[in-house]
Amino acid sequence: MVEIMGTIRFEPWGREIGTDGQSSLLRLARHHGLPIRAVCGGKKRCGTCRVIVEKCEGRLPSPSPLEREVLGDLLKQNYRLACETVISGDAVVRVPRESRDEEQVILSTGARLVRPRKPRPPVRGYAVKVPAPRLTDLAADRERLLSALREVHGLKRTRLDPLVLKKIPAVLRSQEGHVAVYVRGLREVVDLRPGSAPGPCLGMAFDVGTTTVVGYLLDLASGMQLSVQTASNPQAPFGADVISRISHCRESNGRLAELQELVLNCLNELVAAACAEAQVSPEYILEAVCVGNTAMHHLLLGLDPTHLALAPYPPVLQGALDIKARDLGLRISETGTVHLLPLKAGFVGSDAMACILATGIHQRAPLTLLMDLGTNGELVLGNREGLICCSTAAGPAFEGGHIRCGVRARPGAIDRVQIEPGTLEVSFSTIRGKAPVGLCGSGVISAVAELVRAGVLGGMGGFNQDLDTAGFRKGTEGWEFVLVPSSETPQPHDIILTQKDISEVQMAKAAIRAGAILLQEARGGVPIEQILLAGAGGSYMDPADAREIGLFPPDTPVDAVGVGNAAGYGACLALLDERKRREALKVARSTGYLELAAEPRFQELFVSSMFLGRDGGMDL
Ligand code: FES
Repeated sequence: MVEIMGTIRFEPWGREIGTDGQSSLLRLARHHGLPIRAVCGGKKRCGTCRVIVEKCEGRLPSPSPLEREVLGDLLKQNYRLACETVISGDAVVRVPRESRDEEQVILSTGARLVRPRKPRPPVRGYAVKVPAPRLTDLAADRERLLSALREVHGLKRTRLDPLVLKKIPAVLRSQEGHVAVYVRGLREVVDLRPGSAPGPCLGMAFDVGTTTVVGYLLDLASGMQLSVQTASNPQAPFGADVISRISHCRESNGRLAELQELVLNCLNELVAAACAEAQVSPEYILEAVCVGNTAMHHLLLGLDPTHLALAPYPPVLQGALDIKARDLGLRISETGTVHLLPLKAGFVGSDAMACILATGIHQRAPLTLLMDLGTNGELVLGNREGLICCSTAAGPAFEGGHIRCGVRARPGAIDRVQIEPGTLEVSFSTIRGKAPVGLCGSGVISAVAELVRAGVLGGMGGFNQDLDTAGFRKGTEGWEFVLVPSSETPQPHDIILTQKDISEVQMAKAAIRAGAILLQEARGGVPIEQILLAGAGGSYMDPADAREIGLFPPDTPVDAVGVGNAAGYGACLALLDERKRREALKVARSTGYLELAAEPRFQELFVSSMFLGRDGGMDL
């Protein structure tokens, strides 16, 4: 039995949690579902898990070397890192706003995407009148039902889900044989309801991202969207990126099941919320489609993701998959089916396939570069003559991760910055106009672009040392630029951009740019005619800022366009139209894949792409 060595009260939630005197504050919070930000998953690398120890009546160890380095002067205000701090005895710990993984603004819409055609869903309702049994006709209930389906609707060789069998006697007799039959793929009866006309036949599409999860409830017959629900991925406390989560799974048995349960609970909550909003029963949801990167796909299915992190990064499977909702644990109709779109590779998942479906770049003439800018950047280049893709480890900077004052896209996050050249006066906008709490991904890119435009940052990413302004100073992590003084923010510190932050942005953009250049070379160096920015990282970003920091390959005079949550939209298309699923399979098979780890020029291009500025690169 574990001995309780004290109680920690976590504010602002007022949750009291017993401590064994050995578990870190992060571990205690995680196990009780408190959303503390932990970009590195508790590996003591990121410095995002900051908390304030307001009161401690027990033993509080002195700060570790990492805490001294990362927190600097904040130690005087009792800041500590939750993953480093173990308290025995009673204490009160406040989790400041910037360390809370909640209240995100999540992208759930799309723009400039292909128009959906008339729905051709995999599940459809059919009305039949099943004749009552007679002494002269000894056919069983099932046989009479299947024969009515055959005669009235021409559905041959149809079988029944075993659970539907149990419903037959009661349903056939409740309205004198009038039955609505729901058939999947013209082959399998997945539901029966009494009535002379088919009733609601619904579906859910899920975009399972590393950071966020979006669920769309749709009417399968009309294609109408009934509800959209969003949530943070509850696996986030185990690491902001997929590698941290994979290594968490490898730490001991049971961790994979733990992460699977977390994401399934999240999907089930989205189902419940969507049904509550639309005032329908989850029993009417007979089909679901899930897309996500390869690691999210494996964690959702409970498949061992270990080898995704080991060269040559093979996934457990690549093709599309159908699984019964009851076998997965998704709380829609028990007889419903969950369809997972195909994967391309260990780091190019079904989300990329869904983005291709949504943007239709595989059917159009212009040579298009599709950039999905998340923690793992997925790039696709091509047109109707063929596609090639790659993935690059951009890191979380485009989502505000690994940035000293970075926050997720949530109310109060600075999303745009303006710096007046000459005076260096800073103005900014925040999401929903709330008081500034930090910089989200687009705010970070905007700030760096403005610092470049104003001549504060040079091409190599270094601050201009000749600056004479109060906002430019030397801090614990080297030179830094003050964007918002603490007097104008609810935070107990200034909102700044440090030299280390600039380096994070340079590395993220260099990885993306180098990958894009190699894709372009693989297509014979043909000029890119269109750039589409997808995902939260890409869609909120101002394309002019992206160009200013040199994100795009050289000689791409075209303007970039944000296309919103293309992966979620692609999942909806595949939910409503069986032909899109076949299209996704064809795309996954025919798209070429470039493994950047095996490209000898990647490192050289990566280094030259660190350069900030419109050209975005330099000859070494
Ligand atoms: S340093 Fe604590 S979670 Fe990363």
